[in-house]
Amino acid sequence: MNRPLHVVILAAGQGKRMRSPLPKVLQPVAQQPLLAHVIATARSLEPAAVHVVYGHGGDEVQAAFSAQPDLRWALQAEQLGTGHAVQMALPEIPDEAMVLVLLGDAPLMRSESLKRVLEDAGEGLGVLSARVADPTGYGRMVRDADGALASIVEHKDASPSQHAINEVNSGVIAAPAGALKRWLGQVGQDNSQGEIYLTDCVAIARAEGASVAATVAEQAEEILGANDRWQLAELERHYQRRAAMALCEQGATVLDPSRVDVRGEVTVGEGVVIDVNTIFEGTVVLGAGARIGAGCVIKDSTLGPGTRVAPYSVLEGMECEGDSDIGPFARLRPGTYLARDCKVGNFVETKKARFGEGSKASHLSYLGDAQIGSEVNIGAGTITCNYDGVNKHQTVIEDGVFVGSDTQLVAPVKVGKGATLGAGTTLTKDAPADQLTITRVRQQVIDGWQKPVKKR
Ligand code: UD1
Ligand code: CA
Repeated sequence: MNRPLHVVILAAGQGKRMRSPLPKVLQPVAQQPLLAHVIATARSLEPAAVHVVYGHGGDEVQAAFSAQPDLRWALQAEQLGTGHAVQMALPEIPDEAMVLVLLGDAPLMRSESLKRVLEDAGEGLGVLSARVADPTGYGRMVRDADGALASIVEHKDASPSQHAINEVNSGVIAAPAGALKRWLGQVGQDNSQGEIYLTDCVAIARAEGASVAATVAEQAEEILGANDRWQLAELERHYQRRAAMALCEQGATVLDPSRVDVRGEVTVGEGVVIDVNTIFEGTVVLGAGARIGAGCVIKDSTLGPGTRVAPYSVLEGMECEGDSDIGPFARLRPGTYLARDCKVGNFVETKKARFGEGSKASHLSYLGDAQIGSEVNIGAGTITCNYDGVNKHQTVIEDGVFVGSDTQLVAPVKVGKGATLGAGTTLTKDAPADQLTITRVRQQVIDGWQKPVKKR
């Protein structure tokens, strides 16, 4: 039977031990709420619907996902246990559906593992487990003499011999909705926590003669959740290690996988080299052979093939065609566009600035709201005065212009093709093409001038 898949994500818990006003499932890993990672994994299975059981911080949790209006929300006003939480969503789910329960605070779960759980479950119940070094706190997978899963016993309810079992429940369970409704209806609260345990469905299904399958996760870390800030920090490290691995798989050389952070999506071409302590945010594309120096922060940017970013550069919302040099210590802000063979060097800040091919600003400049042609040389200390205190204005610098050092371009202003601006110029009117324009007090030498002498 081909059943429509309904994913139910449990996210009603408070997370007291986080010591934070933010609801637990909104705590971030890689700058995204824990729950966002779980929802993304759920969506990768292309389910008919994703249901989120919420409770603590409900409005805040729903507001964080307002951009995903197809999510179905089920309120669990009182947290009476994982079984009770699933019951809150079940009335919305047709009996013929296949239900997959995920935990909202376990962001490392891989879709490959979930697909295996669904396959192994077939028409019965499926559970994902993991073998861990320290099973403390987890529900234990109790297998019978044949090795089949007989029941799951919570840590607090387990006997000393059961405590020794190191195969633990991930919290992920799959079952046909109709059967799950029936089994949950039989679950009691007679346990050490007085809760309605979802895990009790295992023994109930077995007693009914239904098939019960336990699938072991390939990576034990997949089941990790976060109850406190230290565990959250550990999740972040696991996540970042995977992200570094994905960069390597795409063809990047990552000089130290423990010193690169990916807080978004990074696509890299072959032969990319990433030095230590770089942070990527949002959507970043690095073309083949691009090299990123140490300590860079790169957000929502596309760097074409062969772009070299020297250390400690901060890039956001910019694009570069390739074969260009950026940094060290460059700050490229949104709307920066570099054609090929450009250079934006030490302590240069750009914003809404377009550079034509072969143009260079090598040192100490601010270039904002600027159209710069090709083969332009911007001298050290050049500043576009783009803001009059109220409005922003454009500076246009045409092809082949040479801008001398320490020049101020008071916008709106235009420098014609092939012009030269003398060092120290404050340009307030357009400069004509192919000529030298200069504003500078003439240099003079004072005849007979004498150095003052110290009075006795
Ligand atoms: C649960 C499992 C345990 C498993 C472990 C994996 C049960 C009874 N136990 O234990 O076998 O090893 O997860 O981490 O299922 N939640 C609600 N409403 C509730 C209770 C919980 O939404 O009433 C949510 C929590 O927000 C959390 C998840 O369900 O995201 C798991 O709840 P938690 O209390 O952490 O379960 P554990 O005791 O850790
Ligand atoms: Ca837990």
